[in-house]
Amino acid sequence: MIFFVFSSLLFALGSSSYELKKSYEGDNFFNGFYFLTKNDPSNGFVDYVDRQTAENLGLISVNDTKIKISTDSTNKIPAGKRGRPSIKIQSSETYNEGLFIFDIEHMPEGLGTWPAYWFYGDDWPNNGEVDVLEGIGEIPKIKYNNFALHTTEGCKMREEDQDLFTGKWFYRNGKARTNCHYIEDQIPHEGCPIRSSDGFFGEEFNKDKGGVIIYEWERNDYMRFWMFKRNQIPIDIIQGEPNPSNWVKPMAYYRLGANCSSDHFNDMMIVININFCGAWAGDAYPGGQEACMNGVRNNPEDFTEAYWTINYLKVYKH
Ligand SMILES: *[C@@H]1O[C@H](CO)[C@@H](O)[C@H](O)[C@H]1NC(C)=O
Ligand SMILES: *[C@@H]1O[C@H](CO)[C@@H](O)[C@H](O)[C@H]1NC(C)=O
Repeated sequence: MIFFVFSSLLFALGSSSYELKKSYEGDNFFNGFYFLTKNDPSNGFVDYVDRQTAENLGLISVNDTKIKISTDSTNKIPAGKRGRPSIKIQSSETYNEGLFIFDIEHMPEGLGTWPAYWFYGDDWPNNGEVDVLEGIGEIPKIKYNNFALHTTEGCKMREEDQDLFTGKWFYRNGKARTNCHYIEDQIPHEGCPIRSSDGFFGEEFNKDKGGVIIYEWERNDYMRFWMFKRNQIPIDIIQGEPNPSNWVKPMAYYRLGANCSSDHFNDMMIVININFCGAWAGDAYPGGQEACMNGVRNNPEDFTEAYWTINYLKVYKH
């Protein structure tokens, strides 16, 4: 009996049931993604360019193992253009579960920027949206990451689940916004947000070479999220045998099942982008949308830090 308990404890601490299925890294990184060039659906002042244009403009590069995705930070934007040249990539592979480990050294910063790393299924919102890393550059600077889900109706979280994670439900008018349905009572597209503690977005996350952002999706049970700064990354991740049961409490936890069935989320694609102004960053810009567009148009120097440096994005499955 004692031996049994001891050996199962060893098992729990020592090994991972996850196996690496896909690694987006190095020279192959961009081959796993399409470059989306349509107008931004959130009215961003952005000109998403195709891969060839991105290479020609120097907006994407791979140096040794480090992948850089950036925006134009040298030119003013002439009248008649859609906005500042930038990147939006979407994985060609689709997912219905998994453990996604995104290792970044730098996330985009800059007044009016709206960077995001997120997942969604076709025919939005019918197959769901999961925002893993999202926020905006504003004054004063946002220091938290905003996790959120966006779904059709019938996906509600419980306020009591707060005990399961270290981030905080977002409250509006004294109520936790725990209904993930995308048109729920007011603010469109708010979803069911959970905010990380401060220090996990923008400059503060970047200052010691970033870290890892983890999204674990157990299809019928939950979605859990962690962020670890570089000097706190669990050793099992570095060793390529990630085992969430060894880690601290997650930053965010969304319960799936009776109150949010798994079929709200299907065939999800990974998206990484850098937007400007639009529904979130534009409204928050000092002076509003118009001022945001003027700033993004005329102040290229505001965007010298508006880039991602990515070490890898690894997908593990059971
Ligand atoms: C590539 O990275 C190395 C080491 O960080 C750096 O010294 C070099 O300037 C980089 N090259 C380019 C083209 O960015
Ligand atoms: C579903 O939500 C209701 C109301 O909050 C709660 O009483 C019930 O326990 C939830 N069921 C599950 C399986 O989480």
